[in-house]
Amino acid sequence: MTDVGVPIGRVLRSDHDRLDGLLEAYRDSASSPSAIRTTLWTPFANGLRSHIRFEEAALFPMYLDAGGSEPMVSLMLDEHRRILELLEAMDRRLTGDRPETGDLEEALLNVLWAHDAREEEQLYPWIDANVPPERRLELASRFDGRENI
Ligand SMILES: [Fe+2]
Ligand SMILES: [Fe+2]
Repeated sequence: MTDVGVPIGRVLRSDHDRLDGLLEAYRDSASSPSAIRTTLWTPFANGLRSHIRFEEAALFPMYLDAGGSEPMVSLMLDEHRRILELLEAMDRRLTGDRPETGDLEEALLNVLWAHDAREEEQLYPWIDANVPPERRLELASRFDGRENI
């Protein structure tokens, strides 16, 4: 079968990879001054918030419209809430003098790892297989047009 549509799953997987790289750069800066750490943290946190906003505003509604699973979406939304709480906790911690954030980083990595794997193995492939190509093209251009990327 030839799929002439845009594999939106590939677009979102590559954004996961980009965000993983930004988080790794932040984690590699553990012994740097807090101003440098904050400069590295901000693009990751803003990028992840933007990714989540896109999924909730555009991707999940399209998935449900195409007959996707509601329990899957509520699980994803719960995981997004947990991720956003951890980002906020990190933001607060980083305003301190000598912020030590290893515990929050571990918690974030755990939830992100499970969440991204679920999306990449179940949600995105389902969308690529079941949402018509023209709607996936529209999704991909909305994703490219986001702010804070
Ligand atoms: Fe997500
Ligand atoms: Fe995602």
